[in-house]
Amino acid sequence: MQQATAIAHPNIALIKYWGKRDSRLNLPAVGSLSITLDALCTRTRVCFDSTLGADSFLLDGVGADARRVTACLDHLREAARIDTRARVESSNDFPTAAGLASSASGFAALVVAADAALGLGLPAEKLSMHARRGSGSAARSIFGGFVEMSRGRRQDGTDAVARPLLAAEDWPLEVVIVITDSDAKSLGSSAAMMSTESAPYYAAWVRSSHPDLRAAREAVLAHDFDALANVSVHSCLKMHALMMAARPPVMYWNAATVACVRRITALREAGLAVFYTIDAGPQVKAICQPEARDAVEHALHSIPGVAELRRSGLGGAAHVAEGAA
Ligand code: PMV
Repeated sequence: MQQATAIAHPNIALIKYWGKRDSRLNLPAVGSLSITLDALCTRTRVCFDSTLGADSFLLDGVGADARRVTACLDHLREAARIDTRARVESSNDFPTAAGLASSASGFAALVVAADAALGLGLPAEKLSMHARRGSGSAARSIFGGFVEMSRGRRQDGTDAVARPLLAAEDWPLEVVIVITDSDAKSLGSSAAMMSTESAPYYAAWVRSSHPDLRAAREAVLAHDFDALANVSVHSCLKMHALMMAARPPVMYWNAATVACVRRITALREAGLAVFYTIDAGPQVKAICQPEARDAVEHALHSIPGVAELRRSGLGGAAHVAEGAA
């Protein structure tokens, strides 16, 4: 038996990945930029066992569909030249599949654990590539802090890779995660992405992502909070507008999502260093300077429909859990 356990953290995109240029290889249509959250955590144990006839997958203690896990492990098995099946057990300390990027941390943890179990010792860029095949955003969760993911141009996707952009300790922003609904979402991001390619301005979305990415990269490197806030909010709303313009339309927001957006906008207009982003779900993430965090939490917790607030710093590259089998 070859086994290992790994820990990975979700990341949230400030410049969004939405749309695929190759769905078989899971290559993104646009580049993206994210922050990895140190307070939320996925823990995954992978055990390759020659007595197994098929991979099995336990997610938060419940048997789950193993197909995406198998597809991801197959690439690592190929690299290790083995055919042994695996038992995979994964748990999240936050709501699963609810727009909190559990697939990002999930596939990052899976790849890191499988790499360790098989003794492959792949470099981080290769781990990131394998994670991307499971879930596009997972490529970024291999790294901590601020991370940039290139769209790439090559057909084989070898240049569609994530790279660390800035260490968390170099600009320690904080995030208040506002959970407005902890149920699993009804439409997964892959299906939603495919349908939004029917939106009339999909091509404009792809084209306009390049200047957004450049502006965000420059803002991060210059520690320019206002510039990062402006381009991040723009990227977020542009992505959701694209979803709403698809046929059929995709609408992840609920009433509390909208109320949080309005409240955060008002706080920013009043001079607080805070902005928001929203992914494929109704949760809102408020990104702020550390000194603004208490005021942000205070303003958001009383909004009707807000179920829970979680706070997080940045950090957390995916890693093998020391001492765990
Ligand atoms: O990695 P996926 O397929 O779950 O897609 C992620 C999509 C967003 O979270 C909405 C944006 C992003 O860049 O993470």
